[in-house]
Amino acid sequence: MVDHGAPPVALVTGGGSGIGRATVARLRAAEWSVLLADLNPETGPRAADDLGAAFERVDVAEEAQVEAAVARCVAEYGRIDAVVNNAGVGGAFGALTDLAVEDWDYTFAVLVRGVFLGVKHGARAMRAAGAGGAIVNVASIAAYGGGAGPQAYSAAKAAVLNLTRVAAVELAEDRIRVNAVCPGVIATPLVGRDPARALDGVQPWPEVGRPEDVAEVIAFLCDDASRFVTGEEITVDGGLTAAGPRIHAAYGGDPRKRGLTGVNRGTTGEPPTIRSGR
Ligand SMILES: NC(=O)c1ccc[n+]([C@@H]2O[C@H](COP(=O)([O-])OP(=O)(O)OC[C@H]3O[C@@H](n4cnc5c(N)ncnc54)[C@H](O)[C@@H]3O)[C@@H](O)[C@H]2O)c1
Repeated sequence: MVDHGAPPVALVTGGGSGIGRATVARLRAAEWSVLLADLNPETGPRAADDLGAAFERVDVAEEAQVEAAVARCVAEYGRIDAVVNNAGVGGAFGALTDLAVEDWDYTFAVLVRGVFLGVKHGARAMRAAGAGGAIVNVASIAAYGGGAGPQAYSAAKAAVLNLTRVAAVELAEDRIRVNAVCPGVIATPLVGRDPARALDGVQPWPEVGRPEDVAEVIAFLCDDASRFVTGEEITVDGGLTAAGPRIHAAYGGDPRKRGLTGVNRGTTGEPPTIRSGR
């Protein structure tokens, strides 16, 4: 990002709630000028008012609306330094064998086409200005496997990760960085009921993730502090994916819980050593 002597400028989609709202707050605290784009006509303008951002009602699945939001940033602030493609919905749910095509298409339109349009129009404006920039796409740990979100959502978030990589490769010569964040379970209105109980014994970190935890990483990826980071995803999940499948515990329980240590010598015919106490 070139220093223009004026605050940097960001477009944040889905800024009316949850992770997007926290991201707008975090960027405003660092004195960014922010255009908050959201489809919700109530929460969007309210968040923008509260946080000192501008508001544009945008459906990220509609190309003309995304293009207009980027154009507004350039017209009002003279440039655009960052685009945060965060808007999202849970999308289609239920068995693949029963899913309606229009529900599948809606999910991909918001989660994948919406990110593509933010990349396309954000990068065009950044390239035209010749000063580089940063694009951050909000994916999910649901992109990593089949068990962390509804089917269409998981497939769409996996597409966002590879879209991030191909965009990073294409846009590097323009010094436009493209990265993704993969939140785990974050307490936002999207997740609904208090997730703490569902995470008990599943997520290693004791507290549930907050929108601010993700916003902090997004802000880092928007900032020149990450100037050599591109095509990367950063997981923000309290160790959820690091823990992987909890098969060890399922095999006869966790020896740590019984205060046991020792060594298992497998099928060598030699006995295990089992020690109690710490
Ligand atoms: N909360 C989590 O646990 C979690 C985990 C992984 C990934 N994510 C992702 O983080 C992003 C933000 O989610 P959140 O939890 O903050 O949700 P949220 O529901 O609190 O906020 C999402 C915002 O996106 C807006 N939005 C939805 N569709 C839109 C559209 N077509 N055009 C413009 N705006 C639209 C909504 O109006 C809302 O303000 C999403 O992409 C979501 O998939 C969330």
